Formats: sequence, C-alpha cells, structure tokens
Amino acid sequence: MRLGILTGGGDCPGLNAVIRAVVRRGIRFHGMAFVGFQDGWRGVLDGATQPLGIADTTGILPRGGTILGSSGANPYRHEDGPATVVATIAEHELDGLIVIGGEGTLGAAVRLADEGVRIVGIPKTIDNDLAGTDVTVGFHTAVQVATDAIDRLHTTAESHDRVMLVEVMGRYAGWIAVYAGMAGGADTILIPEQPFDIDGICDHLRHRHASRSSFSIVVVAEGAVPADGTLELPEAPFDENGFPRLGGLANHLAPEIEKRTGFQTRVTILGHVQRGGTPVSFDRVLATRFGVAAADLAAAGGWGRMVARKAQDIRDVPITEAVSERNLVPVELYREAEVFFG
Ligand code: F6P
Repeated sequence: MRLGILTGGGDCPGLNAVIRAVVRRGIRFHGMAFVGFQDGWRGVLDGATQPLGIADTTGILPRGGTILGSSGANPYRHEDGPATVVATIAEHELDGLIVIGGEGTLGAAVRLADEGVRIVGIPKTIDNDLAGTDVTVGFHTAVQVATDAIDRLHTTAESHDRVMLVEVMGRYAGWIAVYAGMAGGADTILIPEQPFDIDGICDHLRHRHASRSSFSIVVVAEGAVPADGTLELPEAPFDENGFPRLGGLANHLAPEIEKRTGFQTRVTILGHVQRGGTPVSFDRVLATRFGVAAADLAAAGGWGRMVARKAQDIRDVPITEAVSERNLVPVELYREAEVFFG
C-alpha cells in the first residue's frame, strides 16, 4: 500500500513523533511505502512532495515542528481544489492519505472523504478542542510550557506586589488556561466558555489582596469573552483561512484592572512559545500510539476514520465526529478550578 502523509494547520509539538510512528509501523509491519506532502493541503494541491522512509524519520521523535512543514491551506478554498487532490493522489499512485490536523485540516478531510478520497485522520492541536478524542497531540506540551511560565511569573508578582496577566492560546476552548491555571495556582482563569465580568474579577483581586496576599496571577485564554454589556473590546480580525486572529486580549484587560483596583498590573502573552520546542513525554507517547494505530487503520481499510484516545485506549471514530462539534471545557472542571479563585 502507498500512502501520502501531511501535517496541516498550526504546528505543535509531537507532529514529528506521529510521522515517525506511522512510517515505522507502516513499513515494518505492513510493507507500506510513503510520500510526504509539504505544507499541509498546499503540498497536495501543488504536488510538492518529499521522500518519507525510515531513514528520513530517524531521530525526529523529540523534535518540535514538522519535517513536512504545515499551512492552513484548504482545498475547498481553491478553484478545482478537490479535483486537484484526486488528481495528485492518482499521479502518485496512492491508496490513501494520512492527514494529521486540527479543525480546518480535518474539516477538509471529512468533505474529501465524502467525495470518495481515502483518508485516515490523526487529531492534533494544542487547543485540545477536537471532539471524538479525550486529548489531542500537542496539548500537554502547551500546558507544561504555560505552567512553567506561570511558575516563573510568580516571583515577579510576589516581589513587586503585582497582578500578572498571563495570556495563553485557546481560540474557542479554554483547556490550556484551565489546566495550566490549575497546575500553576492561578487566582483567576478566564476562558471562552465562561464569559467574564471585569468587575467580578476586580472584586476577587481586591478580596485576595486585602485578606491574604499582595499579588495575583490571572490566566487569560486568548478567546475569553466579556459577559454581555460589561466591557467593550475591539473585534478580532480574520486570518487568511477565515479564523479569528486572536492574541492581545490581556493588553485590553490590564488597564481596566489597574484603573478599577489601583494594583500594578503587567501582561505576558505566551503566544507561539506554547507551540514550540520538544514535546513532553505524554505527547511523545500519544503521538507514537496514534501513529501506530493510524498505519494499522489504513492497512485495515478504515477510511474516513480518525484515531482517538478514550480513557487509556486508542480507538477510532469517524473523522466527522472530531469536527462536527467542539470539545469545550465542561463547567464541572471550571468549578473545580474556581475553588482557588480570589
Ligand atoms: O489552533 C491552534 C492555535 O495555536 C490557536 O490557539 C491560535 O489562536 C491559533 O492557532 C494561531 O494561529 P496562527 O499561528 O495561524 O496565528
């Protein structure tokens, strides 16, 4: 069997570990051959490929990023895109594609699969917002990066009696904020799922500073939203793929907090640091298990399906399950985090 592999959307730690595992399992156990498509769907549209054998994937397990490159290109935003995908697959005599991606990349995969393209999906995104799986590749590394940052910011917060706002990624879901906030002992966590009231936050801070402590750490998910009518914020522009381009919310919140409380407030926006560098062990193991399972799934003809983690097990689900709804932070988890607010 000959398969194409691509990594699409935002890069994240663990992508190379996935590629290595698919290739190793596929070649060693199923006698497969692989072609790497560069820069996500763009490589399929442009016919940009690179060799992908065992030697090409040796030593990449701990490396961040993706040796294939990535982009948010979407065949459905290109004229004749889907037909070009079909033609490229035929030209390279491929039996199918292994598509490693998040919402946008797998969303295109679902539509192509409906049109008969043979695809096995693998879920990745630091945001952890794909449904159908308990967790996505990259999430736990981002949480660790954010937790380390919160630990470090504590010292300045404490030394200078400041409120430190730490902005983390999370466009629609506040998983990184809740996990890193819990792990780092945040005093308030703002997430997209729970609209915030700036006055309520300031009450928390005043109470904390009056009763126990002279500093606070507030974790802000980039996609957090104010409750209706509580605060005017500028609309986020859209990026070239139609997603809101976020980042910078904390810069708008800091002066509001300072004005209301009088506490010195500083902002740290972690941004793409959360997507960079070597994956933590959890992501390396998850990526390896997903890669092995994806090669097995393709060998078994499980087209249109995606590998997933449920409890401790690796299973497979229809790819459409991943993108038909979002995996959001359940209110119960947020309530647990809230115990430590204020
Ligand atoms: O979806 C993953 C993610 O890292 C989001 O958390 C963030 O909003 C977005 O990608 C940033 O995308 P880009 O790297 O294209 O600016």
